[in-house]
Amino acid sequence: MIDTVIAIDIGFGFTKATDGKDFLIFKSVYGEAVDLQFRESLLGENSHEEHIQIEIDDTPYFVGELAERQSSSRSFTLDQNQFISSSSKILALGVLSKLLHEPEQTIKLVVGLPIGHYRQYKEILAEMLKDKHVFTSVHHDGTTTEMNITVEDVRVLPQPIGTVMDRLLSTTGIPKSQRFATDKIGIIDVGFRTTDYTISDKGRYSERGSLTTKNGISKAFAKIGAKLKEASNIDVEIYRLFEAVDSGSIKIRGKSYDLKPITEKAFKQLATAIATDANTVWADDWDIDAIMITGGGGAVLAPYIEKQLEGVVIPIKQDLDYRLHNVRGYYKFGLYTWRKKEA
Ligand SMILES: Nc1ncnc2c1ncn2[C@@H]1O[C@H](COP(=O)(O)OP(=O)(O)OP(=O)(O)O)[C@@H](O)[C@H]1O
Ligand SMILES: [Mg+2]
Repeated sequence: MIDTVIAIDIGFGFTKATDGKDFLIFKSVYGEAVDLQFRESLLGENSHEEHIQIEIDDTPYFVGELAERQSSSRSFTLDQNQFISSSSKILALGVLSKLLHEPEQTIKLVVGLPIGHYRQYKEILAEMLKDKHVFTSVHHDGTTTEMNITVEDVRVLPQPIGTVMDRLLSTTGIPKSQRFATDKIGIIDVGFRTTDYTISDKGRYSERGSLTTKNGISKAFAKIGAKLKEASNIDVEIYRLFEAVDSGSIKIRGKSYDLKPITEKAFKQLATAIATDANTVWADDWDIDAIMITGGGGAVLAPYIEKQLEGVVIPIKQDLDYRLHNVRGYYKFGLYTWRKKEA
């Protein structure tokens, strides 16, 4: 038996996590907690699911959607500079407060970093997380649990690699086929703010062929939002456009706006930019066996990107929200790594 493995993918848009059974996904936002006097009415029906609140060194934090709605003072979305410092620890402890059911445990963590941060921060992040974490988990009904979690080992992976691990490793962390050891696979990870490119060569990360750009899906959403503002005079937050774009229209003050033409145009433009970068960064890697497209933005852009790529695209399994493939892969990689080591 190996210890509990928790996998965490901290993106600019969403934090994703799994313990191998359940998945957790919330906006990468946190803020100082305020007193909730009327918990039930404030939080409503989904309060249990969405309630993530912790206290670290006597400072209370709301994490995820709760922070967005309730933190009056400071509520920040991840920015690049804060990313590694305080943010990732708070978001990670937020995850642990939800996924761990014992107050005292020893666990192992697999965490992903954006390509652009990987080399510079992988050791810093691992050191910060590999520690004894004492914090308080505040539940939705106001009761608390003192958590005493020892993180005994940490692996840090470049984010997009998770999707390859997910594809090539079984649910118990055993390579499914020889391809794990032989193939060279390019991955395009379209996130909220960034798109990451990397290559998994024989199951290993290759720094050559890696790139981060600002061509995240939010770029297309910003265009759609601007067009919508022209038409309606209302600023709709980028975050709130996902569902509207998905359904093809949005209702503002009782009036319905058709989003299909502008969406089609914005997605096509972004997909072209993303595919062009791929063809450029992998120009010398003609020996790539296949390419995978992942990330929440990949879910919507894949059909547009695919057409413009030079190479064979492996479709990713449709059994899971696209945003979660990386983190499921990290979990499998954790099993693969620590099983091998202990055997
Ligand atoms: N069910 C969903 N709900 C909300 N957004 C979704 C959903 N499915 C796909 N998306 C898209 O996924 C995007 C976020 O993708 P993802 O979680 O991969 O980004 P991220 O990893 O947080 O960002 P980055 O990689 O830039 O750090 C959203 O902006 C949205 O366009
Ligand atoms: Mg991401």
